[in-house]
Amino acid sequence: DKGGWSSFMAKEINEQPEAIANTIRGRIVDGHVEIPELTELGAERLQNIDRIIIIACGTASYAGMVGSYAIEQWARVPVEVQLSHEFRYRDPVLSDRTMVISVSQSGETMDTLMAVKYAIEQGVTTVSVCNTQSATIPRESDAAVYTHAGPEVAVASTKAFIAQITALYLIGLHLGRARGVLSAEAEAAAVEQLEALPEKMVEAVATHEQIAELAHWMADTRSVLFLGRHVGYPAALEGALKLKEIAYIHAEGFAAGELKHGPIALIDHGQPVFVLVPSPRTSPLMHSKVVSNIQEIRARGARVIAIVEKGDTAVLPFADEVVRIPLTDALFDPILQVVPLQWFALELSTAKGLDVDQPRNLAKSVTVE
Ligand code: F6R
Repeated sequence: DKGGWSSFMAKEINEQPEAIANTIRGRIVDGHVEIPELTELGAERLQNIDRIIIIACGTASYAGMVGSYAIEQWARVPVEVQLSHEFRYRDPVLSDRTMVISVSQSGETMDTLMAVKYAIEQGVTTVSVCNTQSATIPRESDAAVYTHAGPEVAVASTKAFIAQITALYLIGLHLGRARGVLSAEAEAAAVEQLEALPEKMVEAVATHEQIAELAHWMADTRSVLFLGRHVGYPAALEGALKLKEIAYIHAEGFAAGELKHGPIALIDHGQPVFVLVPSPRTSPLMHSKVVSNIQEIRARGARVIAIVEKGDTAVLPFADEVVRIPLTDALFDPILQVVPLQWFALELSTAKGLDVDQPRNLAKSVTVE
């Protein structure tokens, strides 16, 4: 049941405030993040972890990339992200001090399941971030951290992506505390941000109207680029994937700093570029770098659509369109910034008369390798 929405994807984008709230629910106790499933692994095991590898495919791998920054920051453990289907073939260096965190909405993705099985054989600790109760991957893993975002029907993942990032942030905070490396101030600040997210997400979802109008005059667009820095980089990759998947438009996401190392050659007159601008209050240095990137592409004719924090006026002179999202800490920006990108893909798909929920050649759950 689409609940009155034109598509399941539209419904699920609208459910994102609730999805975040459901992922957090019961996991913040007295101002501390506490995930019982991780506690059960034993204090010593969590303290001894010296390396984390996140494995996932597609959108889930971008959630993993976003999460990797937060886990490193809070738990002070090196984190890398590997695509599930690449993981085994590189003969990864693993030990009993390695933790492998798989991220999968369905919990049935064969590539990820096979990677988890390989990790189990190597004796590492496996944690599953999953949205589907009792799916195969969480059942096989040492610990299951469910996202509780509710069933996701549209092939293009939206609320599950947001919930995956939220769950990874909770894991980062739990590990930071369990390992004794998270300061009380950092924990309090992060918890405050997390608890405020559902309400801010309501505002991010409300960018729909502005994006619908934007998409209307962009219906003929044949290529779109997305730029982001730090956590904005995986969010840019996600914006590009959404557009490819459901609107069949060629799209690429880049790390903003990588532009001058090649991709800037693509910028031609009228090329649409979405730029995810970091918060100027909480990351002034990154912010100014991204504003310079905008100036560089604008000077070469790009049509710039900037996603900025409310009150950020620095980009106004250089952007053709400015989409405003609520204030957060830089680490939390992508959770809100990705929402207008989800709407953009949905609106372009609709404008082209496509089936938003059932894109060609794709299945919701990929159960073959
Ligand atoms: C993108 C999308 C896919 C999935 C990927 C992993 O919108 O839906 O990229 O994210 O196939 O699926 P799960 O999370 O079920 O393992």
